[in-house]
Amino acid sequence: MINVTSIGDVNVDILSEAVEKFEENNEQKIVEQIKLKVGGGAANFACWLRKLGMKVRLIGAVGNDMFGEFIKEELKKIGVDARLVTLKERTGITIGIQFKDGSKRLVTFRGTNRLLSFQHINISEIDGDIVYFSGYNLLENLRKELPKLFEKIKREGKIISLDPDLKAGITFEKSEFFEVAKYVDIMFLNEKEARLISNNFKWFKGRTLVIKRGRKGAIGIENGERVEVSGKEVEVKNPTGAGDVFNAAFIHHYYYGYELRECLEFANSEAAEYIQNF
Ligand SMILES: Nc1ncnc2c1ncn2[C@@H]1O[C@H](COP(=O)(O)OP(=O)(O)OP(=O)(O)O)[C@@H](O)[C@H]1O
Ligand SMILES: [Mg+2]
Repeated sequence: MINVTSIGDVNVDILSEAVEKFEENNEQKIVEQIKLKVGGGAANFACWLRKLGMKVRLIGAVGNDMFGEFIKEELKKIGVDARLVTLKERTGITIGIQFKDGSKRLVTFRGTNRLLSFQHINISEIDGDIVYFSGYNLLENLRKELPKLFEKIKREGKIISLDPDLKAGITFEKSEFFEVAKYVDIMFLNEKEARLISNNFKWFKGRTLVIKRGRKGAIGIENGERVEVSGKEVEVKNPTGAGDVFNAAFIHHYYYGYELRECLEFANSEAAEYIQNF
């Protein structure tokens, strides 16, 4: 039995350990560690949810290459039920330089994420009570078909959660996004993304909206109630993926029926825990 299905972006992350900010152009930093990890919002989310003990399925795409094999092997070890299609393109790659102040700079090659589309998704594999979707900007094809996909999922009475992840900015018509948002029960955004989308939240009335605020913590809005949690004081070693870990922890508690404040507090603690370990 599956509890949650995660659909969306899957790639490898090549991440540096946290360094001081660069002072000049063409500067080189020597680090003790650069790690190759499974990444992409949908995959990160699935891995953390599995770590929390839930049964999670991941639907996405990889290429017929070394990185695709690496991702499949890692997911197997972690225990995520991966249903990844292999497409005729290379696996996506994100290169991330992480900084000690908690920020990062990312460069992303979308690879197979750009090609994944509705036709590659087997609806009967979307299982569990909650369906999570991540990677709106990267999934150029699937994004356009989300209303069709979400309508099918909703018809089965499932809860839909979305983190569009707009770190690459808004590369689509906002009306297209609002068409998708109609089907979403739990929306995750960070402060910058929230501002990019709209200057008020009337469009999301009656559902759950979570705004992540980095070191400042997070805000949740649900049924006219507004709950705020402050960020934990921690040494940042690994900020890339903290947002996905936050979402996974929130969904874990939401699934088991916790109140909004408890979901936020747990998510905030798990994300803080994650960023302290590289
Ligand atoms: N420097 C920090 N100190 C403490 N907690 C942090 C810090 N950065 C992030 N967090 C925790 O992680 C959560 C998610 O981080 P953030 O607000 O950066 O989300 P995001 O922008 O969606 O991240 P991502 O870049 O992974 O998409 C925050 O709401 C907070 O709970
Ligand atoms: Mg995010």
